[in-house]
Order: sequence, then structure tokens, then C-alpha cells
Amino acid sequence: MCPLWPFHVFLIYGIILGPLWMMTSAAVNQMMHTWNVSFEPSSLLNIPIGSLNTVSFETYDLTPEEIQYGVVSVQIENAGHDSVEPVDKIYILNTEPMNDHYWSSAFNISANFLGYAKARLKLKSINDDRTLKTSNALNITVVREEKAIDKAFTWSVATLVSIIYINFGCAIEPDIVKKTLKRPIGPVIGFMSQFVVMPLVSFGLAKVLFPESLAMQLGMFFTGVSPAGGASNIWTVTLGGNLNLSITMTTISTFAAFVMIPVWIFTLGQLIFAAANTKIPYARIASIAVGLVIPLSIGLALQRFCPKIAKFMARILRPFSIILILFIVIFAIITNYYIFKLFSWQIVVAGLGLPWLGFVFGGLLGHVFRQPPMDILAIAIETGIQNTGIAIFMLRFSLKQPEADLTTVVPVAVAIMTPLPLALWYVIKKFQAYSSQKRNIRLESDGVGDPSRLEPLSNGNGRISSHE
Ligand SMILES: *[C@@H]1O[C@H](CO)[C@@H](O)[C@H](O)[C@H]1NC(C)=O
Repeated sequence: MCPLWPFHVFLIYGIILGPLWMMTSAAVNQMMHTWNVSFEPSSLLNIPIGSLNTVSFETYDLTPEEIQYGVVSVQIENAGHDSVEPVDKIYILNTEPMNDHYWSSAFNISANFLGYAKARLKLKSINDDRTLKTSNALNITVVREEKAIDKAFTWSVATLVSIIYINFGCAIEPDIVKKTLKRPIGPVIGFMSQFVVMPLVSFGLAKVLFPESLAMQLGMFFTGVSPAGGASNIWTVTLGGNLNLSITMTTISTFAAFVMIPVWIFTLGQLIFAAANTKIPYARIASIAVGLVIPLSIGLALQRFCPKIAKFMARILRPFSIILILFIVIFAIITNYYIFKLFSWQIVVAGLGLPWLGFVFGGLLGHVFRQPPMDILAIAIETGIQNTGIAIFMLRFSLKQPEADLTTVVPVAVAIMTPLPLALWYVIKKFQAYSSQKRNIRLESDGVGDPSRLEPLSNGNGRISSHE
């Protein structure tokens, strides 16, 4: 049975109903904006964390009854976590200075953490605490003050990703790719799970886990549409999968990414951007795709014209992929400790869920199409491991603040948590191999060793396929 069994319903509902729900709630909000208040300034954009901001307001839109019995307070709607809070202020309207129906005053808002919020004035009746009306909203975004080290982080991720693409261009082995493509079913399954299943899964998971936070949805989606990471080849070797297939799939997904990333962002991604009221950064996304083609071409050219350098570059590809992941995790933690404030249970589930679902879906597809166990393993690993460096690169270069900061937490979480299930798998494999070896020895010393009975136990690959 499909291991996702009850959850596929949520995924489908999330994908279908998510946008509809957002549209409806936007319409309902619009209808309730009955109280006209003009704020000065009319919005608080990019206020720094830790700042105190005074907002004055005026309104003519009060009835004599409301002035007699009304109590007004500042209501804050934070998106996701608590970005801002009002400095408590309650206005009893019949004690406020009024000029006919004209009333003006001011309140303070303190910015606690990066993110978005809206502030409204809410008018209640003093007698029964009923909400009489709610004002139009004051939009607030809170950002971090950008430090030099933030720029350094962004640029060093970009540089490392580019170097890895040069390395990768050097490491592509046309013969292996050609040979593997003779039986293209494995690579096709890998492509489908990488660029069809993963974007859809990340979109569905984002809608289910972060229905309120469009920034987190963007972070998930950008991570989901990223190509496979170089670490997939290392894990495939470690866990005993088909390395040639893994290399071929990584090659295909590296090239396909130039087309598939823009295709997904401009189609399904548009739903998130539209709901976030953000324009898709077309030019930025296009230039990132081009920006990755250049190092890849350099690598291919090196391989052709300077084979010695290319050989060296190809050799350091794998260690470099590990360095990139370590760098992202460590640098992100040191400079962007704010990321840990964003580590909610949803982020942990997202960080674990995306690679897990990738492994499961990749494995399932391989199983359904009756691939050999070593190929299933390679496909599963290839699908589950995303190139989080590219996701971070895209997010930080294409989004403004605070989106760039908020969204980065998702690929960082995925980068931190992807190795966990793989390492666990490795330990289980080792343990099984060890215990079957021990049993083997015991049985032999008992003189009842029957190799044919032990066959299924000692066959690692057979075991993996039966676990999928
Ligand atoms: C806002 O805060 C400032 C600084 O603490 C204070 O001087 C001012 O009176 C406050 N304004 C309101 C409306 O509370």
C-alpha cells in the first residue's frame, strides 16, 4: 500500500483548496474593512528589529453612539510568528478629545522579529465587549539590519555553488552517461521524481505546514524545484546503490534545472507569489539559470582543453559538495542565528519531510517500474537529496527582505536534516550486516551452517527492495 496513504488526501486538498481558501479569506477581509482610518505613515515598511515606531491616525468615520460607548484598541495580526506588538494602548472614546466626528491620536508599535504584520484599530462596545467595527490595515514589515557578513554569506554560497558547477562540468563522464542512457528507464524515472514529484510534494507540504506563511511556502517550493545535489553520489556509493545511474541522473538534472526551475516558478510558483502580493523576479530567476550555465560550460571546456586541471577538479567535486553543505549549515548558524528563532515544529517536519518524501517517492516509482534494487536505491537517494545551495542562492538573490531572510530557513533546515535518515539507514545496514555475520559464525560453529538459508539475510540489496 502507498505509505503516504492517509496523507495523499491532504496533499491533494492542499494543492486544490489552498489557493481557493486564500482568495476567499482575502475577499472576506475586504468586506469587513468598513471603518475608514488614515494612518500616518500609511505603512511601516522595513522597520528594523528592536525599533519603536509611532503611528498617528485620524478618522471622521464615527457615529455619536460609538463615541459614547466605544473602546478602541490596536489589534495586530502577525503572519506566522510574533514580529511586532503594540505598546499597550486603549482609548475610551468618550474621554478622548473629539472635534465633531473628527478624532486623531497615535500609538506605538515595537518591532521584535523579522516578518510581516498588519495593525488595525478595533472598536468595541464598552457594555458588552462586542466588536463594532475594525479599521483598514496598516502594513508592517520588519527586517534585520543588513551587516557585511550577510552579504559575505550570500556571495560565498554563490561562489561555492559556481565552483561546484565548474567541478561538475569537469566530472561529467560522457561515456558513462551514454552507456546508462542506453537503458533510459532509470534516468527517466529519476527525472520524473526529481522535477515532477518533488515540486508537487514541496508545494503540497508547504500549503499543509505553512498555510499562513507565504514566505515559508516560497522557501519550501524553491527547495523542492532545486536539482539533485552532488552529495547524492556520495550517499549512493556509501549505501551500495548504482553509482553510474546516480551520476547520470545528477548530470541530467543539472542540465534540466536551467529549464525546469523557471518553468515551475513561473507556473505553480506564481500561485504563491500572487498570494504574497509579490512579483515573480523573472529577470533574477533567468539570470540565475544563466549564471549556472556559465560555470558548467567552463567545466566542460576545461575537460576538453585542459584535461589535467579538469581531472583535478573532478577529483575534488565530492569533498567540495560536502564542504558546501557544512559551510551552509555552519555559516548560516553563526551569522543568521535568527534562523533558530524560526525553527518551529513545522520547520523540523518540513526539513525532515521533504527528503523523506523524496526517498519514498523515488523508491516507490523505481519499485513500480520494476527497477533492480541498486537502481531503486540510486533513484530514491537522487530524489531525496536536493541541492540546497542552489535554493539558497536563488532565494537570496531573487527576493527582497524580509522574504530572503525568512525563506532561507527552509533550505537550511533541509540541509541539516537530509543526512539524518541516510545516516540512520547506514547504521541499520551496518548493524544488520554485523549481526548476520555473527549469526553466520555461530551457526557455523554449531555445525548447522546452511548457506542457502542465510542467503536472503546476507543479500543487502534484496533487503532494501523489500523495505521500500
Ligand atoms: C511612543 O514612544 C515614545 C518614546 O518612548 C514616547 O515619547 C511617546 O509618547 C509614545 N507615543 C504614544 C502615542 O504612546
